[in-house]
Amino acid sequence: MANETMTATKVGNSGGVIAALNSQLADWSVLYVKLHDYHWHVKGPNFYTLHAKFEELYTEAAAFVDEVAERILALGGKPTSTMKKYLEQSAIAEAAGNEDATGMVRTLASDLSGIADRLQQGVEAAEAASDGPTADLLVTKREAVQKHLWMLKAFLG
Ligand SMILES: [Fe+2]
Repeated sequence: MANETMTATKVGNSGGVIAALNSQLADWSVLYVKLHDYHWHVKGPNFYTLHAKFEELYTEAAAFVDEVAERILALGGKPTSTMKKYLEQSAIAEAAGNEDATGMVRTLASDLSGIADRLQQGVEAAEAASDGPTADLLVTKREAVQKHLWMLKAFLG
């Protein structure tokens, strides 16, 4: 009986962690496509800077998507893997298609700010489940996102 309770608790906590990880997967998958849109369509005097920055960010997004999905698998969960579900589950909207360079940076900063908040929620879920490796993964990403946010905000002045 005690064991059953313990198992139920563990599965319940892992469920919260897996949901948080799948939320990251959806956010970063939509952002990956959105960053390509920005990389291809950005125009103006900051073209070279932003074209390269957006590439750096989508490359980072791709690596994180794989890391998150494989962490979900290691926890016995199922990573979401269709664009339809990513769009349903992500808090990130696709590129509007009408933004200028400054608008792209402003939207990206807003998207990353939301992601930083959801990363923190994931850290808390992982800590509640005593899942150190997931907490570590999400804390590290949150630190990287905060650095990007500082740079994007500096760009915007
Ligand atoms: Fe390119």
